[in-house]
Amino acid sequence: MKISVKGVLIIKTVIHLSALATFLYLYYLIDSGRLGADPVKEMIHFLGKTALNFLFLTLLVTPVAKRFKQPLLIRTRRLLGIYSFVWACLHLTTFLWLELNWQFFLFIDEVVKRPYLSFGAATWIILLLLTITSLNSIKNKMKKAWFTLHRFVYWAALFAVIHYYWSVKAGLIEATIYIVICLLLLVQRKAYFKSLLFQSMLKIRK
Ligand code: HEM
Repeated sequence: MKISVKGVLIIKTVIHLSALATFLYLYYLIDSGRLGADPVKEMIHFLGKTALNFLFLTLLVTPVAKRFKQPLLIRTRRLLGIYSFVWACLHLTTFLWLELNWQFFLFIDEVVKRPYLSFGAATWIILLLLTITSLNSIKNKMKKAWFTLHRFVYWAALFAVIHYYWSVKAGLIEATIYIVICLLLLVQRKAYFKSLLFQSMLKIRK
């Protein structure tokens, strides 16, 4: 059975509702004081992980649509990607506001000095560019360049899991599981990585 336009609308509604439920759950955790001894850190972790989960879901859409021959499912990809960016913005805002008290120079200093933050910032910049260019009017103007830019979503996933793994002081198992999931998702795009490798080898030989 093929997913219809109405089916896509239902899936999009479920995506909105799950984002709302996640937000309300975080609000409940904060309000009831269930975020533990360091609530700010817990909030940063919660928001970072939610951004990553939405990014993984975004990457899952294409292989699932191809595997089950559901072309209309692709229409849910943009919404999931935008939500990943929204959660990443909340994650970054919490860090800037509650950890650094809006000290922008300190923020830049931290991003430059700490490699795990550099990877986080690189991921955020990629997600920002992908979100801005996700508008149909911009997509049509960019033509082929749009597809080249949007392949950077794979790099965003890779950088995000490196950022996660590097930031962890305890609980490496969960971070490792995220890396494995990321690699499994990227294996689906092996043709892209092979062509990149091929192109760079050609450049080296020239
Ligand atoms: C400029 C951008 C970013 C900054 C400044 C930043 C900052 C941070 C900080 C301070 C932590 C906590 C480290 C600790 O425990 O000491 C963290 C963890 C994390 N961040 Fe980011 N981050 C950024 C972007 C992102 C993005 C774009 C994503 C995902 C798409 C992401 C996902 C995560 C994850 C999954 C964790 C680990 C959560 C956990 O340990 O449970 N971050 N980040």
